[in-house]
Amino acid sequence: MPETLRLEVTGLRRSFGGAPVVDDVSLAVAAGQVTCLLGPSGCGKSTTLRMIAGVERPDSGAIRIDGRAVFGAGVEVPPEGRSVGLMFQDFALFPHLTVAQNVAFGLTGEKAAKVRRVGDLLERVNLAGYGDKHPHELSGGEQQRVALARALAPRPRVMLMDEPFSGLDNRLRDGIRDATLEVLKEEGTAVLLVTHEPDEAMRMADEIALMRGGRIVQRGAPYNIYNAPVDKAAAAFFSDINVIRGVSRGALTDTPFGAFLTPGHADGAAVEIVIRPQHLKIDFDRGGRGPNPTVADGTPARGVVQRARYLGRESLVDFRMDHDGSVLTASVPGVFLPKAGTALWLMIRRDRCFVFGTGGR
Ligand SMILES: Nc1ncnc2c1ncn2[C@@H]1O[C@H](COP(=O)(O)OP(=O)(O)OP(=O)(O)O)[C@@H](O)[C@H]1O
Ligand SMILES: [Mg+2]
Repeated sequence: MPETLRLEVTGLRRSFGGAPVVDDVSLAVAAGQVTCLLGPSGCGKSTTLRMIAGVERPDSGAIRIDGRAVFGAGVEVPPEGRSVGLMFQDFALFPHLTVAQNVAFGLTGEKAAKVRRVGDLLERVNLAGYGDKHPHELSGGEQQRVALARALAPRPRVMLMDEPFSGLDNRLRDGIRDATLEVLKEEGTAVLLVTHEPDEAMRMADEIALMRGGRIVQRGAPYNIYNAPVDKAAAAFFSDINVIRGVSRGALTDTPFGAFLTPGHADGAAVEIVIRPQHLKIDFDRGGRGPNPTVADGTPARGVVQRARYLGRESLVDFRMDHDGSVLTASVPGVFLPKAGTALWLMIRRDRCFVFGTGGR
């Protein structure tokens, strides 16, 4: 028996004015797991979430919550019958109700049980003692936590969150993300969280579903998505990238950085070698010579520092390469800030680069 799937979405589609906006989206979220739907603006994330919530109607596809069909094959359960909790960016608390009344809003049943549940949740989100206050007396972060407690109160099987932290300032956001995650894990809720911020997805997700143009292009743990991107665009979504172009011959591609293994690429096929700035290695110039080539890092190529920016934790250094005038960017620990005009040697870690055909894959 596989772990219980709280949310199963199969082949979901939706077009607006003939243009597909969500195109064959399938995903599954188990109890206590967080899946982040991550992708650029307009790629169809919110539309997907709205269809699962039941406020937007799919053209086709199926949605199951807790093993029960809520959409598909003639079934269409209205939003209030789906046992989903919703949290959106503009979560509006009811201004005329107290914090406790806001949290109790979706609860039915006996009064004493409701009071217990509200008290328990307020404690969980670190707002014990705030029950009698009104929303306008709370900070943005406190209001956000009330909204979380309210969404969790009826014990939804699935929590749908659409950019719920984007209204918060940076300093507050990290703490609230972590607190939210902790509560959701404790409650064993299955969470589908929409974001366009890779950092947020990396921080929150057990699984990331990377979306582009209405489709999920890659699914996996944050580690895998970051370290084994499915194509150049997927790599570029998480950080700046450097691209070195070449032509594959006999499963090897020669470049000024030495040869790269390019198995699976036909002779004569154009390939792109993609490397993140933090995986370029830098070495000093020794009177016009660089370090010796190695198997792990290939052959060094010389470049001249064009610009170096100190960002605190790291410095970003742009190099103009001697061999073709192209610009490559390296990220180095912040203590190292070379002057413009300095000649240095760059090497590419073979275990950290990605090779794609120019079709993108
Ligand atoms: N009701 C609608 N009628 C027409 N087009 C719509 C409708 N809702 C969404 N769209 C279009 O569908 C596309 C996807 O919208 P969606 O809101 O799902 O994007 P998103 O991935 O959530 O983007 P963002 O990160 O900016 O919130 C957009 O091009 C949008 O203009
Ligand atoms: Mg959206």
